[in-house]
Amino acid sequence: MKAASEMEASSQLHGLLQLRHPVLLAPMAGIAGGRLARAVSEAGGFGFIGGGYGDEQWLHEQLQLVDGVAFGVGFITWALHERPHLLAQAMDAGASAILLSFGDIRPFAKSVHAAGRVLVAQVQTVLQAREAEAEGAHILVAQGGEGGGHSGVRGTMALVPAVVDAVDVPVVAAGGIADGRGLAASLALGAQGVMCGTAFYAAEESLAHPDARRLLTLASGDDTTKSDLFDVARGLNWPAGPWGLRTLQNALTEQWAGASPEMLHAHKEELQATLTLARQSSDHRQAPIIAGEAADLVRHVLPAEVIVKQMLATAREALARLAPKPGG
Ligand SMILES: Cc1cc2nc3c(=O)[nH]c(=O)nc-3n(C[C@H](O)[C@H](O)[C@H](O)COP(=O)(O)O)c2cc1C
Repeated sequence: MKAASEMEASSQLHGLLQLRHPVLLAPMAGIAGGRLARAVSEAGGFGFIGGGYGDEQWLHEQLQLVDGVAFGVGFITWALHERPHLLAQAMDAGASAILLSFGDIRPFAKSVHAAGRVLVAQVQTVLQAREAEAEGAHILVAQGGEGGGHSGVRGTMALVPAVVDAVDVPVVAAGGIADGRGLAASLALGAQGVMCGTAFYAAEESLAHPDARRLLTLASGDDTTKSDLFDVARGLNWPAGPWGLRTLQNALTEQWAGASPEMLHAHKEELQATLTLARQSSDHRQAPIIAGEAADLVRHVLPAEVIVKQMLATAREALARLAPKPGG
């Protein structure tokens, strides 16, 4: 059975990232630091540090924590355009893969290739997948809108096989995958692996606030919402597009539910002041918990190694259910 053997045996993905298990840690800005990336890589997966919007000092500190394991760094591409030197900072520190999401990867593809690193592009449509392959991406992450953080509008289930059919490079599934059933389903859809954010948000090694981790373990995907609210409140200038940040609902999202981007921008100062105060007091009734629809599947704060192991064990069980029964 191809899917079951792909989980263990060598696929292109295994070769490119030197991993034992096809589980990637998503580069969650401010949450996936060096400790978490290291723990996922040590568990046999592959950890991406969340370079996010490009805080040089933060990145420097996190890069000190991943010595001795294979790791990558992910950037929000439009923000990297404003601080392009961070790409060299990541590669000089030993990142073997660079993941770029949300924006034009062309200006960076050459440098990543020239440094002999693996270029990973996270895409939200089939068209973007074709473009990123043409621009030299070695791996594509097909991201569905169920995921935590920013995403597009397509769902993982239909997007992944469509991207697999459209390109010749290995495809990784992301968005709504937080246990072995999701891993098994992704392999069945033709992906060679999965990339998970929400599943690792509550990991012991995550940089999320302990209250936020605990609240996630009590939440459901029913409780998530997607909006521009926290981007405006954080003063981030996301380019026009079908983005939107998926978070858990809280008092602030309820207060501003249905507000147009124009209305949010009109109240920018007020929102920024509210968020600053909320962050200072770690008040998650106002500060965001960035997580996706897979929230239902995150019930405990666990070491990343246990999360990876549980995911593999459940995936094996799920795939074994597909194997022919004796006499069947
Ligand atoms: C807390 C959080 C922060 C994220 N930050 C980033 C980011 O900085 N860059 C990025 O490419 N993706 C980011 N993402 C999206 C992930 O790369 C990934 O697509 C998503 O987590 C997959 O869906 P899942 O959350 O259901 O696993 C973030 C996701 C979360 C949950």
